Amino acid sequence: MVAQKKLVVANWKMNPATLTEAKKIFNGSKRVAVELRQVQTVICPPVVYLDALRRIYRGNRISFGVQDCFWEDYGAYTGQLSPVIAKNNGARYAILGHSERRLLGEDDAAVGRKVAAVVRHGLTAVICVGETRRDQDGLYWAFLKNELEEAVRNISAKELGRFVIAYEPVWAIGKTATDALSPEDLHEASLYIRKVLHGIFGDEALAVPVLYGGSVEPANTEALLKGGQVQGLLVGHKSLDPKAFGEILKIVDAA
Ligand code: PGA
Repeated sequence: MVAQKKLVVANWKMNPATLTEAKKIFNGSKRVAVELRQVQTVICPPVVYLDALRRIYRGNRISFGVQDCFWEDYGAYTGQLSPVIAKNNGARYAILGHSERRLLGEDDAAVGRKVAAVVRHGLTAVICVGETRRDQDGLYWAFLKNELEEAVRNISAKELGRFVIAYEPVWAIGKTATDALSPEDLHEASLYIRKVLHGIFGDEALAVPVLYGGSVEPANTEALLKGGQVQGLLVGHKSLDPKAFGEILKIVDAA
C-alpha cells in the first residue's frame, strides 16, 4: 500500500447554533491542522456554514465536507442537498450512510445511490457502516458485509480511489473513550472490511482507507489508530472542542 496521509474527518452534526461559534471552532482547529504534514483534516459543518468557513482558509491541509448528499443533481426535491451544489460551495467530501441518518429511515439502497452520485461528481464519499449491537453468535459480521456491499453496489473498480469506509459501531457512538471499541476488536473489524472489499473489487481494494469512528478522544486516539490498523478517524462530539480536536490531530500526525 502506498503511504498516504491519515484522514481525520470532523463530523459537527447539527452544531453549533451560530456562525460566530462555528468560526471560533473552525479557527481553533485550523491553528493545529495547518501545521500537520501527515494528516488531511476534513471539516463537515452544517451546510449553511460551509461557504463562510471555506473563505477563511484556502490551503490544502484542511478540506470541507457535507454530512449527507442527495442522489439527484437538481430539481423538485425540497430540503435535499445536491452533490453539484455541495461541490460548487466548497465540499470535497460527503459523509454518507451515517447511523444517525439510517435511524431516521435511510436504507441501504438510498446509501448506494448517494454514494454513486457523489463519486460521479468527484467528491470523496465517506461511507459509514457499523452494527447497532454485537451478538454472541457473530451475526453482526453478516450485517456489516451487507451494508458494505449495498453501499458500493453502484461503484466500479475504476472509482476505487473515490471513497473511504468509516467503521462506526453504533453502540460506541457519542460516549467516552472507555466505551469505544477496543483496538483489538477494531483491528479485527478493519481486516474484515478489507476482506469484503477485496471480495468485490480484488487486490486494488486493499488501498481503500478504513477509518474508525465512535467516541474518539485524545485518550484513545493512538491506541485505536495503531492497534486498529486504520488510516484515520471520524470524530463527532470532540470535533466541536478545538482543544481536544487539536490534540487528536497532533496524536494522529505523530502516529
Ligand atoms: P462521536 O461521533 O465521536 O461523538 O462518537 C462519531 C460519529 O457519529 O460520527
